[in-house]
Amino acid sequence: MTKKIEAIFREEKLIAVKEALSEIGIIGMNVMEVRGHGRQGGIELAGRIGTYKVDLLPRVQLNIILSDHNVEKTIEIIQQAAQTGDIGDGIIFVYPVEEVIRIRTGERGREALAYEGDIDVRRLETDLVNAVGISD
Ligand SMILES: Nc1ncnc2c1ncn2[C@@H]1O[C@H](COP(=O)(O)OP(=O)(O)OP(=O)(O)O)[C@@H](O)[C@H]1O
Ligand SMILES: [Mg+2]
Repeated sequence: MTKKIEAIFREEKLIAVKEALSEIGIIGMNVMEVRGHGRQGGIELAGRIGTYKVDLLPRVQLNIILSDHNVEKTIEIIQQAAQTGDIGDGIIFVYPVEEVIRIRTGERGREALAYEGDIDVRRLETDLVNAVGISD
């Protein structure tokens, strides 16, 4: 099955998150600038004429469509890389995905989500190495 991870987090964490994902072989992704708020409803700022509320704060939204079995690892990596521990670190949503079609080739489903050197290819290589007991 296929899932969509929608991660919304601090803009300054984008590079760290992208690098951490690239390290585990998560390749296809899509990034948007968004503005929003979570449960605090924004932040109070102190100005010259008193305090005012900024209710829509800038964040980035990173979307990744991936196979079910890669979801937990990917969430873990995003959370580790995007966390500061302060309020407003962000949120991750996971959705089911009906279908994926690569326009150039017409490939569908898992084939449309396969990339050279991706997380699944790496896993296969590791399994192979473990099975035959080769190491370098
Ligand atoms: N329920 C929601 N639906 C859609 N987007 C949301 C929702 N909650 C948060 N967001 C988005 O995530 C961003 C970050 O939210 P935020 O980190 O403040 O979440 P939170 O649940 O309030 O957690 P915290 O208590 O750590 O602040 C928001 O700016 C908004 O873009
Ligand atoms: Mg919040």
